[in-house]
Amino acid sequence: MITRKTPEQIGYMRRAGRVVAEMLARVQAAAGPGVSMAELDQVARDVLSARGARSNFLNYHGYPATICTSPNDVIVHGIPRPDVVLAEGDILSIDAGAIIEGWHADAAVTFPIGEVDDESVRLMDTTQRALDEAIKQTVEGNRLGDVGWAVEAMCSEAGFGLVREYVGHGIGTAMHEEPQIPNYGPPGRGLKIKTGYVFALEPMINAGTGATRLLDDGWTVVTADGRRSAHFEHSVVVTEDGPEVLTVA
Ligand code: MF3
Ligand code: CO
Repeated sequence: MITRKTPEQIGYMRRAGRVVAEMLARVQAAAGPGVSMAELDQVARDVLSARGARSNFLNYHGYPATICTSPNDVIVHGIPRPDVVLAEGDILSIDAGAIIEGWHADAAVTFPIGEVDDESVRLMDTTQRALDEAIKQTVEGNRLGDVGWAVEAMCSEAGFGLVREYVGHGIGTAMHEEPQIPNYGPPGRGLKIKTGYVFALEPMINAGTGATRLLDDGWTVVTADGRRSAHFEHSVVVTEDGPEVLTVA
């Protein structure tokens, strides 16, 4: 069942979204050559406790940390480890979430560590623009296929590989609610979007093939060909005036 959130509920989700935006900003500011993933997880934990928010990632199906840290060829769900350390030229995806008064928010960004190669810049830029286009399609009367098609079209135009095995999702009193939101079309098909729906939209785009591989830790998802991947995510509510991004400062 897909629920339509009330203005009061959206107010809590906006507060949770603001905490998530702060987590991402603080983690990005702390990231740099020589910094470990475990240190970044601590930064995110500090923001949660300063804001009186809870983690929706920690212990989620046994997940052992507060954020996901996914460098280079890691697509999503990288576990922040003390022995994984950033280097100049890396790209890093951070996925973070928070709960306020029982209401969830979820967002992700990918950014460069120092100077990175041109293809990485184009990969991150394409994925960010794909999310922006998906958000624009998240309006009453459109269908989920319109949202997915916005990502798929942007990805294929850029000649990159689209990740199809992982999808966006509804969000509310749980991090993952119905519906699933694929990052592909066809346009004009699928669930009809209504005001009050809240979606976590999250395109994942690879430099090479879109195929994925799960590591033995049961969490870390990497590209099948070892090339790089980018991931951007926002939690977005459909209002009468159009989409409102909740995961902003
Ligand atoms: N935030 C991720 C998503 O977008 C989920 C993280 S999985 C967790 O759906 F185990 F790390 F929580
Ligand atoms: Co998500």
